Amino acid sequence: MGMNLIPAGITGAGMGLPDRIMTNADLEKIVDTSDEWITTRSGIKQRYIAEPGVYTSDLAVKAAREALEQAGLKPEELDAIIIGTVTPDYPFPAAACVVQEKLGAHRAAAFDLSAGCTGFMYAITVGAQFINTGMYRNVLVIGAETLSRILNWEDRTTCVLFGDGAGAVVLQPVSKGKGILACELGSDGAGVPLLLQTAGGSKYPASAETVSGKQHSIYMAGKDVFKFAVKVMGEVAEKAIAKAGLTIDDIDFFIPHQANIRIIDSAAKRLGLDMSKVFVNVDRYGNTSSASIGIALAEAVREGKVKDGDTLVLVGFGAGLTWGACVLCWGR
Ligand code: UT7
Repeated sequence: MGMNLIPAGITGAGMGLPDRIMTNADLEKIVDTSDEWITTRSGIKQRYIAEPGVYTSDLAVKAAREALEQAGLKPEELDAIIIGTVTPDYPFPAAACVVQEKLGAHRAAAFDLSAGCTGFMYAITVGAQFINTGMYRNVLVIGAETLSRILNWEDRTTCVLFGDGAGAVVLQPVSKGKGILACELGSDGAGVPLLLQTAGGSKYPASAETVSGKQHSIYMAGKDVFKFAVKVMGEVAEKAIAKAGLTIDDIDFFIPHQANIRIIDSAAKRLGLDMSKVFVNVDRYGNTSSASIGIALAEAVREGKVKDGDTLVLVGFGAGLTWGACVLCWGR
């Protein structure tokens, strides 16, 4: 980080979930699958699914309130709200505007950012720049999804993997040596066809055909995304760690995107990281896309696993294909 930049750090973390839990046994009643298959292939045992009347903004607001309280900040003090999401309440305007209104954060600029499951890493990186440059002091970053609303519940290869939820952090100026030490982002647009919601955009606007063809739900080439994920998680983490001037031995805690336990295991092995330093909760939440890293961080903080001065690595990957990592020193 340059000499004159103001260090940005996470001063509060929160999570928001719907009330309803769907177990693998529940899914066995909906599609031709088994607890055994889902557990061995993904590590997932259950996921949260938003009940009717609960939207992405509601989960985001829950997460935001916890993060704001931890930071000791009132909503009206926020300068900006950035939400990483692929399932906003409306195609437009941004979910961030809905959240702003629900929180009463009237001073804040508000916008969404779309980077698939990497949304949280992109949003943290963008949010940090506002603080680094001195433009803003209080930035709320949220990853929030209700992926259940865009799943094809007849497609067993995708519907068993995802869940709903939100994770939020407050970014503020922190003392030198603390906060975000380095960020690394990337994208490979050649991967667009591997993971996408085909219809509903300008190429295939909603029509009777797109609806009957189930083109408004998630399409994923699982095996290709798996291979990409295993490779890129280790690579981007290594790049960000090197950029921070650190080595893998300096890392106290690794918080990866929670898509699949096998991907997390492989990435940890590749990095030479002991699993005791890796946070895992995919068993309880499934893949919550851009919410997963925020949820994991909030949970780690709640459990007292993250201590002042700890060096953390957050790593994500997803549709685009995109990837991103941040290295940070916890504390103010
Ligand atoms: O955050 C966004 C990024 N997304 C991801 O990270 C997902 C990355 N991909 C994965 O995690 C894995 O590829 C999956 C978990 C999606 C699939 O695991 P896999 O080991 O690659 O399984 P597969 O796709 O090769 O499927 C193996 C078999 C197939 O049967 P055949 O063709 O071998 O007879 C599938 O039809 O398992 C079958 N199968 C299922 N069986 C029971 C697929 N889904 C299911 C299911 N229940 N839900």
